[in-house]
Amino acid sequence: MPQLKTPLCDRLGMALPIVQAPIGSAAGPALVAAVAAAGGLGMLSITWKDVSRVRQEVRRVRELTDGAFGVNIVLGWEPEERIEAALAEGVRLFSFFWGDPASHIGRIHDGGALVALTVGSAREARQAVEAGVDVVVAQGWESGGHVWGGVATLPLVPAVVDAVGPTPVVAAGGIADGRGLAAVLCLGAQAGWLGTRFLASQEALVHPQYKRWVVEALETATVHTELFDGGWPEAPHRVLENEVFRTWEKAGRPDSGSRPGEGQPIAKRGDGSLIEKYSVEMPTPDVTGDLGGMALYAGQSAGIVREILPAAEIVRRVAAEALEALAAASRS
Ligand SMILES: Cc1cc2nc3c(=O)[nH]c(=O)nc-3n(C[C@H](O)[C@H](O)[C@H](O)COP(=O)(O)O)c2cc1C
Repeated sequence: MPQLKTPLCDRLGMALPIVQAPIGSAAGPALVAAVAAAGGLGMLSITWKDVSRVRQEVRRVRELTDGAFGVNIVLGWEPEERIEAALAEGVRLFSFFWGDPASHIGRIHDGGALVALTVGSAREARQAVEAGVDVVVAQGWESGGHVWGGVATLPLVPAVVDAVGPTPVVAAGGIADGRGLAAVLCLGAQAGWLGTRFLASQEALVHPQYKRWVVEALETATVHTELFDGGWPEAPHRVLENEVFRTWEKAGRPDSGSRPGEGQPIAKRGDGSLIEKYSVEMPTPDVTGDLGGMALYAGQSAGIVREILPAAEIVRRVAAEALEALAAASRS
């Protein structure tokens, strides 16, 4: 029986080369633990959580499983205290997004943990490895959420693998089933980093209506834009095309600050506070109001996400399909 195993699996302590990509506040302890317990690697997002919540959530994952997980930090929000808290809790993998993590690498290595960085080109991958990064995540342009580079996964992954091998490369963007995982393993990646697929899991902390929109979306349903910039400006992202995007297009794509309905509240959080039009926030389960006008992050892979499943079932299916796809490719 062939096994889906790469050297990175042993290095990170996962049975399968399947990573639940960090998906902001949607990835809480329940999702991370479910993936880890099923043999994948869970990624807990800690960028916007205070230190006590970081400690609490890392402990919660540990209570639920002894499987493999890491934490993710988007650079730009003063991560030092969160890094210290996670190291003190024994976290052994830190993934960084949206910038240069060089100033944190020494501390994390001294603390006994590994560093991953998301890149969008072979050149960035080479620089990252020279700076001490242990695992390179190559993120393609088709990815959901914020998108760092401009190259699609299929050409990006082999370029990055050739640039930094034998440093392990993880492929992100457009992988939502076992066929996608098999494809990126063939490109030389040592695991797949799946965001949109796990967004449509039962455990993801987003509004059920948002999950349904992701499941209903075709592969043509997303746009790459900088529109939802309230709280995180000039940062390209991929979202489901919605009425807010279409109205802005019809208005001639005006600049930030002079768009239709700028500053207008369109939804409310559970605590009653307001969410403005063009905010970076996505609909979490507590949000009410115009959910469809918010940032509905999703990748082009939404087109092949067809049901909302428990995360463990997603891991199981993706692994089984990948084995089948690899066997079918070598038979034909
Ligand atoms: C809802 C959502 C939120 C995301 N938040 C983060 C984040 O906080 N940190 C990060 O490194 N990447 C984030 N990403 C990007 C993912 O980690 C990953 O690169 C991407 O989802 C891969 O493409 P896919 O959606 O086609 O699987 C997010 C993606 C989505 C869909």
